Amino acid sequence: MAIIYKTFEPQDASVYFESYCSTIKSLVPAWKQTPETLKSSLEKVISQWSVVHIAIDKDANEIVWTATVLIEYKLHRWGTKAWHIEDVATRNWRWGKWIGSQLITNCIDTAKQAWCYKIILDCTQEMSGYYERFDFKVQWVEMKRYL
Ligand SMILES: CC(C)(COP(=O)(O)OP(=O)(O)OC[C@H]1O[C@@H](n2cnc3c(N)ncnc32)[C@H](O)[C@@H]1OP(=O)(O)O)[C@@H](O)C(=O)NCCC(=O)NCCS
Repeated sequence: MAIIYKTFEPQDASVYFESYCSTIKSLVPAWKQTPETLKSSLEKVISQWSVVHIAIDKDANEIVWTATVLIEYKLHRWGTKAWHIEDVATRNWRWGKWIGSQLITNCIDTAKQAWCYKIILDCTQEMSGYYERFDFKVQWVEMKRYL
């Protein structure tokens, strides 16, 4: 399977709408949008130091994996960058084929090339073992308040 790795741009929303829906539903089963709302959400997301990464199966021309990277410039670290990885999902019938692993590794390499000094992500207790494979370590606790 040939995989192309690219950023998800607003003009891609209608082309890859079905396969994006199917991929992100691995993470958010109730996810429901239209090609138009996906395009406008993407515009908002990428206007704020965020990049949505997608992996496309070249033969089927469909998205099989996605992750969003939020870039944070750190004031107390001379404007260097931390990356926050969010919304990681592989299309469910492609699980276990190492797509996720290859692409997380790719994200880590890209972060290093971009002179990012750390990568942060949130996950469930059950998923921590997955990220430990890539040398992430559990540190502190996450606190959240929904509004
Ligand atoms: C998590 C997810 C992205 C992994 O994608 P994937 O493409 O299937 O991952 P890979 O094929 O690269 O991973 C394969 C390996 O990870 C292991 N793995 C998967 N989940 C794991 C977990 N929770 N803890 C430890 N290892 C895990 C598999 O056992 C497999 O190892 P093996 O081949 O040695 O048996 C995918 O399962 C998914 O989309 N899940 C639903 C959404 C989600 O939970 N996203 C993460 C939010 S933080």
